[in-house]
Amino acid sequence: MAKERELIGNFEVTKEGVVTRREVLLMGAMAAASGSLLATSGAAQADAGAQGGARGTYKAHDFAALADRLNGLSANQIKSHIKLYEGYVAKSNAIHSELKTVDLTPANATYATVRELLIESSYAHNGVVYHEYYFNNLGGKGGEPQGPLRAGLEEQWGSVGKFMDFLKAAGKSARGWVIVGYNTRVGALDAFALDLHNIASPANIVPLVVLDVYEHAYMIDYGIDRGKYLDAFINNLDWSVIDKRLAVATKHPNGPESTG
Ligand SMILES: [Fe+2]
Repeated sequence: MAKERELIGNFEVTKEGVVTRREVLLMGAMAAASGSLLATSGAAQADAGAQGGARGTYKAHDFAALADRLNGLSANQIKSHIKLYEGYVAKSNAIHSELKTVDLTPANATYATVRELLIESSYAHNGVVYHEYYFNNLGGKGGEPQGPLRAGLEEQWGSVGKFMDFLKAAGKSARGWVIVGYNTRVGALDAFALDLHNIASPANIVPLVVLDVYEHAYMIDYGIDRGKYLDAFINNLDWSVIDKRLAVATKHPNGPESTG
């Protein structure tokens, strides 16, 4: 069932459409001035915390329902993967907590505790976020995308079939992730391979299709046969989720006309 409201990055998606976080903040401010209940919006509350300078801790999303729903990816495989994701959530919070009290005096680009925390912070953060994109774009019945997403794929790759061939080849080429995203710099779809969560992770790319090709994503079910895993991944894609991501991405404030 479609969710009533979903927060994706800086955007809130409701049945009525997409609202940017800036708009949510503005509504919150207007509501606060008028005493309206709009000020109790979850997004507005989250931003109020961020405005106060304190990043909240990450809470792991509950993906347990996926475990028994996928065709060709076992409950055991998915449960193990979710456990690993929850580990990234815990580590990200631990790193962020340590950064609040770390001694800044020995800061150094060769070795210093603050340097190591900052580097691993990006690793843990991307480990959290990319896994959430990954689990959230599973749970569908595969098939083919329609509408603007289909048009975007056809524009970039010629046809949906050619995109699927490309996605499988990309999945065999990467050591960590394949990100098919909306490139806000040019206003078109684009694709990248990442060997680690925080290595070669591109800026101004809003993830649309997120594919995990680390061995932990498929070893339980497929051993070293990544090709069969890639087929299973594609067969379980939820294109309706990816449609919504594209709708949000095309309204990204850092679009092609932005000066940054
Ligand atoms: Fe993973």
